[in-house]
Amino acid sequence: MLNQIKEATEFIQKRIAAKPEVGIILGTGLGDRMVEEIEEPVVINYNAIPYFPITTVATHKGQLIFGKVHGKSVMAMRGRLHYYEGYTMHQIALPIRVMHMLGVQYLLVSNAAGNVNLNWRKGELMLLEDHINLQPNNPLRGENFEFFGERFPDMSEPYSKELNKKLLRIAKKEKINLHTGVYAAVQGPSLETRAEYRYLRTIGADVVGMSTVPEILVARHMDLTCCAISVLTNDCDPDNLHRVELQQIVDTAATSEKNLVKLFTGLIEQL
Ligand code: HPA
Repeated sequence: MLNQIKEATEFIQKRIAAKPEVGIILGTGLGDRMVEEIEEPVVINYNAIPYFPITTVATHKGQLIFGKVHGKSVMAMRGRLHYYEGYTMHQIALPIRVMHMLGVQYLLVSNAAGNVNLNWRKGELMLLEDHINLQPNNPLRGENFEFFGERFPDMSEPYSKELNKKLLRIAKKEKINLHTGVYAAVQGPSLETRAEYRYLRTIGADVVGMSTVPEILVARHMDLTCCAISVLTNDCDPDNLHRVELQQIVDTAATSEKNLVKLFTGLIEQL
């Protein structure tokens, strides 16, 4: 596995000019506007990189984009890998480990999520303060690679308080309504039943989604400084639940993307 990561890293290093400091993962329906912010972009398709998994979801392009934002070297994953697509957790972990090998120290993650906190509305944004992992697997299961981190990585602060403080300050200045709360990660791909949304609220989740947590676990194992923002794409009121279509999730994410971009670019400026 280490050899695969090294080979993928070396392949990329030959094609980029600067060592990226900031990694960005773009979630469902998110990405187009953020990518526009990346100057002097170098694009590498996942399918060109040795051992890189290829994304299967139509709404996700499989590209790494390298370039600059506010003078800082960044790399963005346009098109993320979900466990429900059938990838192993090791495949999902690989790009994050490659990011780290390339030099990334900060990981900024976005996702589309269902809103189970009924005080909030779809279209709004939530900063992850914590998470609940309900996925049936963990990318750190199996042999531990001491090279990357310890056997039992601490999770007392998966999302950096320091970065979150900066993001909340930027949100206030930009007049963006940014909630703070707990993300529950489920396997999917089926959406939740009314009873499941009720259960998620009861156990302390504010939003629910099918991504982010595996990447954060791998990143924290390597001691990357992380933050994540959810775009609330659908309201999950168990007593008044409407049919949800993927297109609606994608469209809602797209309309909220400009605020997400302001938050991420504002944060990168301050790193
Ligand atoms: N449930 C799980 N994942 C999601 C949802 C949802 O309601 N909306 C967007 N991603």
